[in-house]
Amino acid sequence: MILYRPYDDSLSSENLSGFFVGWPDPPSPETLLQILQGSTFAELAVDDTTGSVVGFVTAVSDRILSAYIPLLEVQPDFQGQGIGSTLLRRILKRCEGLYMVDAMCDPDLQSFYSSACGMQPSTGVMLRRREYQSGNT
Ligand SMILES: CC(C)(COP(=O)(O)OP(=O)(O)OC[C@H]1O[C@@H](n2cnc3c(N)ncnc32)[C@H](O)[C@@H]1OP(=O)(O)O)[C@@H](O)C(=O)NCCC(=O)NCCS
Repeated sequence: MILYRPYDDSLSSENLSGFFVGWPDPPSPETLLQILQGSTFAELAVDDTTGSVVGFVTAVSDRILSAYIPLLEVQPDFQGQGIGSTLLRRILKRCEGLYMVDAMCDPDLQSFYSSACGMQPSTGVMLRRREYQSGNT
């Protein structure tokens, strides 16, 4: 069974392997733990048979007006079961009361965000510094 819970300090990097699928220079599980610690809000999907995290989502926010959702990932073996949609709805609940909640995604994922929680396609700009892809730790 998949259990959903907010990130808390009891989490260990041993339960955070298998993420950043396809990234050429992925953050390590230890760096992912730091990312979760440093996020304003973070929600986890945990496989209760193994204790492993199989999905997560983060939000960074000023807690007054705006939030940004930089990371949402469900491990391949667990995709297509509603876990990503549930994580998204849970992080939006954490962002309740904020005027702006934004995320960047590829065009083929816009329908996922709109059907999961009503987020609308928009336009934006971005900067990616490849030399820091595994984290500036
Ligand atoms: C995107 C992602 C989080 C979705 O997680 P998931 O648990 O598989 O999603 P759900 O099971 O809740 O799927 C909900 C719906 O979105 C659709 N969907 C999922 N991934 C999709 C994709 N890559 N493109 C288009 N639609 C997608 C599903 O078909 C499903 O539609 P349905 O309800 O009509 O069947 C997951 O595919 C993933 O981790 N991908 C790699 C990382 C990534 O792209 N993250 C998003 C960052 S922008």
